[in-house]
Amino acid sequence: MTRSFFKNLFAFTIMISHLTICESQNFPKKNREQRIGQKADSVLRLMTLDEKIGQMNQYNGDWEATGPITNDGDKQNQIRMGMLGSMLNVTGVEHTRELQQMAMKTRLKIPLLFGQDIIHGYRTTFPIPLAEAASWDLDAIELSARIAATEAAAAGVHWTFAPMVDIARDPRWGRIMEGAGEDPYLGSLIAVARVKGFQGKGLGSTDALMACAKHFAAYGAATGGRDYNSVDMSLRMLWETYLPPFRAAEEAGVATFMNSFNDLNGIPATGNAYLQRDILKGRWKFKGFVVSDWGSVGEMIPHGYAKDNYEAAMEAVIAGCDMDMESRSYIKNLSKLVNDGKLSLGSINDAVKRILIKKFEMGLFDDPFRFCNKEREQQQWNNKDNLNAERQIAEKTIVLLRNENQILPLSRQTKTIALIGPFIKSVRDNLGFWSYIWPDDSARIISPWQGIQNKLGKESKLLYARGCNINDSSTSGFAEAVEVAKQADIVIMNVGEAADMSGEAKSRSNIHLPGVQEELIMAIQATGKPVIVMINAGRPLIFNWTADHVAAILYTWWLGTEAGDAMADVIFGDYNPSAKLPVSFPRSEGQIPVYYNHFNTGRPPKNDSDLNYVSAYIDLPNDPKFPFGYGLSYTSFSFSGIDLNKKSFRPGDSLTASITVTNTGKFDGKETVQLYIRDLVGSVVRPVKELKNFQQIFLRAGDSKKISFTITADMLRFYNNKLDYVFEPGDFMIFIGGNSKDVKESSFTLLK
Ligand code: GLC
Repeated sequence: MTRSFFKNLFAFTIMISHLTICESQNFPKKNREQRIGQKADSVLRLMTLDEKIGQMNQYNGDWEATGPITNDGDKQNQIRMGMLGSMLNVTGVEHTRELQQMAMKTRLKIPLLFGQDIIHGYRTTFPIPLAEAASWDLDAIELSARIAATEAAAAGVHWTFAPMVDIARDPRWGRIMEGAGEDPYLGSLIAVARVKGFQGKGLGSTDALMACAKHFAAYGAATGGRDYNSVDMSLRMLWETYLPPFRAAEEAGVATFMNSFNDLNGIPATGNAYLQRDILKGRWKFKGFVVSDWGSVGEMIPHGYAKDNYEAAMEAVIAGCDMDMESRSYIKNLSKLVNDGKLSLGSINDAVKRILIKKFEMGLFDDPFRFCNKEREQQQWNNKDNLNAERQIAEKTIVLLRNENQILPLSRQTKTIALIGPFIKSVRDNLGFWSYIWPDDSARIISPWQGIQNKLGKESKLLYARGCNINDSSTSGFAEAVEVAKQADIVIMNVGEAADMSGEAKSRSNIHLPGVQEELIMAIQATGKPVIVMINAGRPLIFNWTADHVAAILYTWWLGTEAGDAMADVIFGDYNPSAKLPVSFPRSEGQIPVYYNHFNTGRPPKNDSDLNYVSAYIDLPNDPKFPFGYGLSYTSFSFSGIDLNKKSFRPGDSLTASITVTNTGKFDGKETVQLYIRDLVGSVVRPVKELKNFQQIFLRAGDSKKISFTITADMLRFYNNKLDYVFEPGDFMIFIGGNSKDVKESSFTLLK
């Protein structure tokens, strides 16, 4: 036996006995956090500098990649040498067990963390996050994340790089599909729902994943909507609009953060101490750890912020980036940086302790293989309850944009239906970006064709024509599609952008319906048959002619595994659509950015046609094609006037605003009643509206319900020019309605 063997054995024995002692002495019930901190310290004391640096290093697995990979070195050997603390894109009980066994061969047997982009599902794919946001149903969104976590944790995954909480006001940006849209209030609530869903009963439970708030920060404000592009904004805008969902996730106990690719006001987020040290770990006292986004540490070189990986590693650690995903800057340079006196050992210890604490909290030191349970993996592999939940959530995300003459819902007895369009028989596309491919996908994913077939009896006849491709100029399929339409009583079309036209690195300068799809719609509309159009997309698209002419439009995003059944449930009335847009839909790319919570300017137009020296386009109305919060129902809802229990109140007191909502239609339905407030005069200009609360109510046809909102001074806070989070006395408007445009108004005063 060599000397080092006994040295290692001694070190390990000390560590384990120390840990055991901690547990066995029944310390007074100190909080878990403090005790785990002590355990992490005891491991830290045993570690060499190289072992510490290994914990700050994360590699992509050898199966699939979610970024530009650098194939170098033998990863498995690096695990055995303790040069690797975490891996991503390794799933499955076998693979994770195999690599974890290698980690158990290291001197201190520190377990690996396995991270994965479980964004909207793992084995069961849920609607894309932007679609889920359209449900405004926080319980449904939490359930979606809960199920995703249960399935992924059963497959050996410890950590998801989600929720993505980037506010996005620019639909040219492909990653708008991954977040919760344009509003900080809705985005914050959804961030919390997703963190709670992923982390479940808490870290350490074998169906809980560590969540990761990303991308910190302001990644969604990339100039021109071009992915990875620069971001330049006032600190006030950063605090007012882009940070709130991160703060909400942090307060909800999110385990980790991921920084972002973009530079923010000239400093790359990965090397941005203002973001990671001052705000996150300083003001917000975040105790978890920060991982880079893919190779963002090394990308500070092309950013022009670091000369080489040595400098990049130094800048990133100083700025508070604890783990280096994929760039190898840390593993190759940190030891030299410490020995050169460029980095303190304290900064390394702080990062490593944050990482060790999470591994303790996940229970991986107690049992590194606790997530490698083959039986649990099989239980979760084809869970029917998960598929049913997915279908129910998908229904809630479908937005009814138009329904002329109440053509929807259709009768199941409709004799002949023509199904036309490039997505009618598509299968895999329905999962959208950030989804997983499984060998049996074609048998599991329900296409629109299949879903409508499943819904209809034998007495109905379905006809089909593809009509055109997704994104080319060929109209060769039009004639056949027109002929098929002429034989039908009604036409259902399914058009949109391809699933890989949104997502990461999928920015588009032209967000019209691609190819000749709108021309196809025109050709089918010209037959005189009633046309219902379903639009699949990962972003708002532009389809002005369609929006003004066809009988009905459903925005079907990417709905996941049960897509076709969810579509059919809505089309035939088994679910009355209730979704509301979480993002404004522009009329033209030239209008971007267009969002509801904009400032008034000094020259607001008096109406859509006012062009007399006002802030307006001469060739386009200012308002979006469809506003934030918009979505129709098969029924209709009327709103009474707003009743305020007082016209003014002082800080510390509150005001109650009430409104009566009536279901004036023929169908029972759910309405999302939205409360907006405007601060008429402030020490800085204030938005014309800000979402401050909403309530979802279910009303039977003919029923009414009075609902109330409490308004407090705290709800009126904003960041003033000194970045103080304040409310200011003065006059306010209050708006309540079923979207951000069609609202009832009232006013109140906040007194000193
Ligand atoms: C990607 C994405 C990030 C993801 C990470 C790992 O580049 O930007 O959201 O979590 O790399 O896949």
